[in-house]
Amino acid sequence: MLFRGDFVHTPTLGTVEILEDYLLSLDEKGFISHFESTNTVDSLRLLGKGSPTTEIPKGSFVMPSFCDLHLHAPQFLYQGNGLDLPLMQWLENYTFKAEEKLDADPMLAKRVYTQLANRLIEAGTGSVLLFGTIKTETNLILAEVMQEAGIRAFVGKLSMDISSRPTYVEVSAEASLSAASSFADQCRLLVSHLPPSERRVEPVLTPRFVPTCSDEVLSGLGELSESKDLRIQSHLAEAHDQVEWVRSTRGAEDIDVFDRNHLLTPRTVQAHCTFLGSPDFTRLSSKGTSIAHCPLSNAYFSAKPFPLREALQEGVKVGLGTDIAGGYSVDIMNAMRNAVMVSRMREGSRIMTTTDTNTQSTNLAIDWKESLYLATRGGAIALDLPGTGVFKVGSSFDAQQLRIFYPESGKGVGPLDFLDLETNDSKRLNHEMVEKWWCNGDTRNRILMWVQGRVVLSRN
Ligand code: GUN
Ligand code: FE
Repeated sequence: MLFRGDFVHTPTLGTVEILEDYLLSLDEKGFISHFESTNTVDSLRLLGKGSPTTEIPKGSFVMPSFCDLHLHAPQFLYQGNGLDLPLMQWLENYTFKAEEKLDADPMLAKRVYTQLANRLIEAGTGSVLLFGTIKTETNLILAEVMQEAGIRAFVGKLSMDISSRPTYVEVSAEASLSAASSFADQCRLLVSHLPPSERRVEPVLTPRFVPTCSDEVLSGLGELSESKDLRIQSHLAEAHDQVEWVRSTRGAEDIDVFDRNHLLTPRTVQAHCTFLGSPDFTRLSSKGTSIAHCPLSNAYFSAKPFPLREALQEGVKVGLGTDIAGGYSVDIMNAMRNAVMVSRMREGSRIMTTTDTNTQSTNLAIDWKESLYLATRGGAIALDLPGTGVFKVGSSFDAQQLRIFYPESGKGVGPLDFLDLETNDSKRLNHEMVEKWWCNGDTRNRILMWVQGRVVLSRN
């Protein structure tokens, strides 16, 4: 299969490459087998073979699909409601109830998860790291729905043997560990009949966070991850009330509790990490553990912004998360914009309060290009998806096609009314246009999406 047209990607933090009139070919497993300008010898040879070629029309471009590194699937039920409480009360008053409701009603779970899959595809999210609920069967429904939708989904059955809600808790550490192990087996079994290139879902060990997990559960999960080669996800140093809770009930910092139970691994993604500083980031970096930065959710629960620049400087792998329903938007484009906004406020405060006249000091603000990297390549690296998030030979073709203007009429598409095409020579795609899409684009611009070469969205 051949594609010809304009491609955009972010091979490194801060660089956006526009690759005009490129030729991309895919092998039968959905991996990129050729990616070069159309006028190279090899491209001309490929084109000369007469294979069917999909032309990406002028005014449209293809870029990697987004990765959402942190989303609570059952909380999609109440997305956009109930953000009036601090984290620990929010969990008790809204979250545990909503999750319990899905565990009691498989039909409702299927409806919520199906709608979530639709919204994710609409928003250009091709890979997603999901928190589910406690009950194994509900998480298997989630895995089935995502596999069916064609989304690359990492599905976490929650482990929690401590809870403020007596009806939403696992009965013992032992039961919790055996359920986690059994879910991982069943989730793997679900896709075992498919060839590896068609398997989209994978189980993830998911200790909810330190306050809901005994040390016995945490250490058992650490061992399970090692013995069964399973990914791990959790919440780390998210909110002031949560951090204080762990200090008073466990006499320790979150990061130490995870570390002593062998849960900071290269297979781990930790959400938030808002209350960490540079020495902690050095530690995460040396462990190979990744961070899901969720700026919208931080604004509600964390009381302070995440030190993103510091984490990046220490070499931590960082991507973005929506944290539905702690964040109310399923669209990673909003997470990108929020990440930029928050980082700019941090930089503003630094300038206002600093007595440091060294103009070489690090700029704490990230720009739109850096945020685009975090949403695509950064997320793929955090999830250790080989090559994904950038176009090169050997990468899985996880991509989206965005239409931003009609060259014939000179009109911008959907929300992009005032693309200034007049001043641009021959209406060629340029950085300003991509920047405008980044600021003002929405789902109306997205017309196609592929996960590992398979079409999951197609519309006019
Ligand atoms: N910490 C533990 N559980 C949750 C959750 O469901 N959402 C968020 N944002 N933080 C948590
Ligand atoms: Fe969360």
